[in-house]
Amino acid sequence: MRIALYQPDGPLEFWINGLQAVWPQAEVALWQPGSPPADYALAWAPPQAFFDEQPGLKAVFNLGAGVDALMRLHIPPQTLVVRLDDAGMAAQMVEFVCHALLRHFRDMDGYQTDARAGRWVRREPALRSDFPVGVMGLGVLGTKVAQAVRGFGFPVQGWSRQPKAVDGVQCFAGSAQLDAFLAASRVLVCLLPLTQDTENILNRHTLSQLKPGGYLVNVARGAHLVDADLLALLDSGHLAGATLDVFRTEPLPPQHPFWGRPQIHITPHISARTLLPDSLAQIIAKLQALLQGQPVAGVVQLERGY
Ligand code: NAP
Ligand code: GLV
Repeated sequence: MRIALYQPDGPLEFWINGLQAVWPQAEVALWQPGSPPADYALAWAPPQAFFDEQPGLKAVFNLGAGVDALMRLHIPPQTLVVRLDDAGMAAQMVEFVCHALLRHFRDMDGYQTDARAGRWVRREPALRSDFPVGVMGLGVLGTKVAQAVRGFGFPVQGWSRQPKAVDGVQCFAGSAQLDAFLAASRVLVCLLPLTQDTENILNRHTLSQLKPGGYLVNVARGAHLVDADLLALLDSGHLAGATLDVFRTEPLPPQHPFWGRPQIHITPHISARTLLPDSLAQIIAKLQALLQGQPVAGVVQLERGY
């Protein structure tokens, strides 16, 4: 068995040693143009040549949850695309989103500004019932986030493609229920995959349907958001702020207007990192299952793009 690896700036030795420990007879090697074709691969955002030169690839394990970079490529029809499902990301996403929500809800930025100015000012406590949270995407990560937010006592609704039932979460589905979902939300969390259907979904039309004083948390992909529309809605006062972890261009260019906005919290795509031990263990378990002809979780449906 030959396993190819592609991850620019990745910890290549970690992956190679980990796989080699389980399959000492296998040939595990970094993929470069001209490398001999492999049976299986681990990859993050490979170039088209990676697939063109390996038409017999049985499966590729995406070294992240989102597969949008792979979906832009032509993948051989028999190659199974398997993504990370959770692998330690859900707990990180829960921490990140709940932190952003609570910081906004408790006006911690305001208290920080006051403290820096030596001001002792108590604000009126906000009511959770005035901060309904809408989670776009009720998948592996979105469901855990919605449940955690519910655990803090906020009203929570979720939106998915197919109808779902999540305890304590009012569920909406499909484009027909998007407006009702948005109108019921004040804080909007985006945990959708980036597909043809979801690109630019956070735009003037959708964001202006949030309750006044709306707040956006985008932890999915930068191309979900129309940047200029967010800025316009912040300027108009309809939106109170945003926490953005992902951007159309990463790193976010120094001249981008988001940098200068105090209402926008920026982080460098760190809300849920690929944790090496968890991810290696998941990929090994899935490859063992595939080798025994068993089904695995996280197989991407190419026709729907996630
Ligand atoms: P997932 O399990 O595939 O869940 C995706 C959810 O989105 C599902 O509930 C799906 O609906 C819903 N959805 C997809 N297309 C839709 C549409 N057109 N309309 C309505 N709902 C739609 O994915 P996940 O593991 O939770 O990850 C979500 C995304 O988070 C990833 O794709 C990735 O881009 C992003 N992410 C970001 C970071 C970071 O560090 N910033 C880390 C990890 C992941 P159904 O349930 O009906 O299929
Ligand atoms: C990170 O953004 C991922 O998709 O895993």
